[in-house]
Amino acid sequence: MKVNITETVLRDANQSLMATRLPEEDFDAILQTMDQAGYASIECWGGATFDSCLRYLNEDPWQRLRTIRSKVKNTKLQMLLRGQNLLGYHHYSDDTVRRFVTKSIENGMDIIRIFDALNDMRNIRTAVDACLTAGGHAQGTICYTTSPIHSLQAFAALGKEIEAMGCQSLCVKDMAGIMSPKEAYDLIRALKDSVSIPVVVHTHATTGLGSMTYLKAVEAGADGIDCAISSFSGGTSQPPTESLVYTLEQLGYDTGVDSKLLKKINDFFVPVKNKYMESKTLDPYVLGTKADALVYQIPGGMLSNLVAQLKAQNAIDRLDEVLLETPQVRKDLGYPPLVTPMSQMVGVQAATNVLLGERYKSIGKEIKAYIRGEYGTAPGPVNQELAQKVLDGQPPIEGRYADSLSPEYDDAKAHLKDRATCEEDILSYIAFPAQAEAYFDYREKKKEEEEFAKALVTSYSIREVK
Ligand code: CO
Repeated sequence: MKVNITETVLRDANQSLMATRLPEEDFDAILQTMDQAGYASIECWGGATFDSCLRYLNEDPWQRLRTIRSKVKNTKLQMLLRGQNLLGYHHYSDDTVRRFVTKSIENGMDIIRIFDALNDMRNIRTAVDACLTAGGHAQGTICYTTSPIHSLQAFAALGKEIEAMGCQSLCVKDMAGIMSPKEAYDLIRALKDSVSIPVVVHTHATTGLGSMTYLKAVEAGADGIDCAISSFSGGTSQPPTESLVYTLEQLGYDTGVDSKLLKKINDFFVPVKNKYMESKTLDPYVLGTKADALVYQIPGGMLSNLVAQLKAQNAIDRLDEVLLETPQVRKDLGYPPLVTPMSQMVGVQAATNVLLGERYKSIGKEIKAYIRGEYGTAPGPVNQELAQKVLDGQPPIEGRYADSLSPEYDDAKAHLKDRATCEEDILSYIAFPAQAEAYFDYREKKKEEEEFAKALVTSYSIREVK
């Protein structure tokens, strides 16, 4: 039986271990080897890479995609897209979503993994449709979580909805690494019984369950798993590619991956990792195993955020109370999956409730927007009292929030004038206005410097001729 391996070193491993600070020059030279390794796909774009390119690395994210495509000619390229949020943190208009997805495919993307933090399928529909229209592979996604309202039947129903939408594959996304081997086995069985499209499993090694979870998922019939080359694996990243390939091949599965090339790829990334460990961009803390997340049932990343937040307020002694309050807030909000941005929102609200000594005395701006329906429909019923306090007699949004948004494109184009050299520039600006403008300034300055240097060289050579 074939098990597809997706390599995440360029996107999720990079994002989870070192806050997406890996510049293109640090992986450029290994791309052609990665193309030969036999991966089913290479996850290399989307998620936080787009923001990071503009904000920290002075790179044009679109150029990064084109460069990767020029060197990875055979292997499918894959990206992560937050549905109607695209790669940002709020909903965009359908027009922007369509343009962004179409341009991603035109610039070389093959597979777009599309998710919504609330599993509200209305929020992935436009992106899925645009992907299919542009000839791409749309991978519909279920965000994994546990709660009294999340059941195998409910997940199977989501799987059917994704298949009916026309998605060519389905991903179970366990962003927190809390899916146990047994839960994975049961869930993949339920999904394989419900849909006929391939099912891919995505987890993180955070709690130490990852590799075991993958093995049971494969036993249950999973068609693919996401792994990271060993030097960039473990901790908050994915389980190691080499170890999974070794294990699965021995058990008689065909991964199609060449282990000799994996060694070559890892040899390339070891010094890269060491460089970022030395500069502290990669903090060894993230490589540890955080089994506490299994006790508290909250993601490891959210736990460390809470600790940092309480420390900053000199209230770290209240951590236990906040950890008790967190499940209560999540329940009051209808059990949203604790993925960005919900994990941060729930954590901050729980801390506020504890520190002010009264539940919902102060309610966060985003929590209010969530209750108004601006993020989609809550998975379960929202606490009535809380809803009344926020809505204050106003009804929540009936339809899909994006239906109320006007197209952003023409305004952005008019604003940028000739600073935008192509449609991609305008989309970068819509996605991250301040960061894109700062990048355009940098690009302009660099171009002027280069032209000046060129002119200097030319004038010297003319003198020489004379
Ligand atoms: Co992930």
